[in-house]
Amino acid sequence: MKKIIVAIDGFSSCGKSTMAKELAHETGYIYVDTGAMYRAVSLFCIRNGWMTETEMIEDQIEKNISSIQLEFKTNAGGKAEMYLNGENVENEIRTLEVANGASRVSTLGFVRRELVRQQQIMGLQKGIVMDGRDIGTVVFPEAELKIFLTASAEIRAQRRYDEMVAKGETVNFEDVLANVKERDDRDQNRAESPLRKASDAIVIDNSTLSIRQQQEILRTLFAEKTLD
Ligand code: DC
Repeated sequence: MKKIIVAIDGFSSCGKSTMAKELAHETGYIYVDTGAMYRAVSLFCIRNGWMTETEMIEDQIEKNISSIQLEFKTNAGGKAEMYLNGENVENEIRTLEVANGASRVSTLGFVRRELVRQQQIMGLQKGIVMDGRDIGTVVFPEAELKIFLTASAEIRAQRRYDEMVAKGETVNFEDVLANVKERDDRDQNRAESPLRKASDAIVIDNSTLSIRQQQEILRTLFAEKTLD
């Protein structure tokens, strides 16, 4: 069976990571969550005071971007976790504050160039499932299988809301929906590598699909692309 690169792009909270992780698990491929890398940069900038709710000190971020060391390590349960300069930040990068910051730092060209460079190195041996916004368009335009995953904003907000409530957080659905729409807008309209469907990507709208149905579609596509 041929080893390939699987690129999964799409809007936030539409289940890209669930889909990518599951496929990586079934195939023995490496899973890379590129959003976690942008989130870790966001956390680093927030902690250093280079990003507040209203401001980004771009020259400071640029000066320090090469000193940010990002690494994925697999925990005892087999789950890949994000490490920032040697510290496990997997939980801290999942907050709304860090997500909003990630959506802002990801508009900076020098941040994108550095992370894309690291992502391309991770894919040199193929056998990788990578999810993000620009994987099929910028990171691996030659990826053998490209998926563009989508679902309505309301459905994505509901899924995120349910997740947050399950974690015991107190949230308001309207706020979550507004946040989803704001991030969609920023992801699609930034000047640097905006979220776009690659011309050869296959669109899967999972608004009305179960995870099982979605994985079945993906499994079939993967099998077709890996035939020798
Ligand atoms: O997928 P996520 O929600 O963890 O991503 C966090 C932010 O990072 C999101 O606002 C978009 C940005 N991002 C990006 O610009 N390019 C990627 N390849 C991955 C994420």
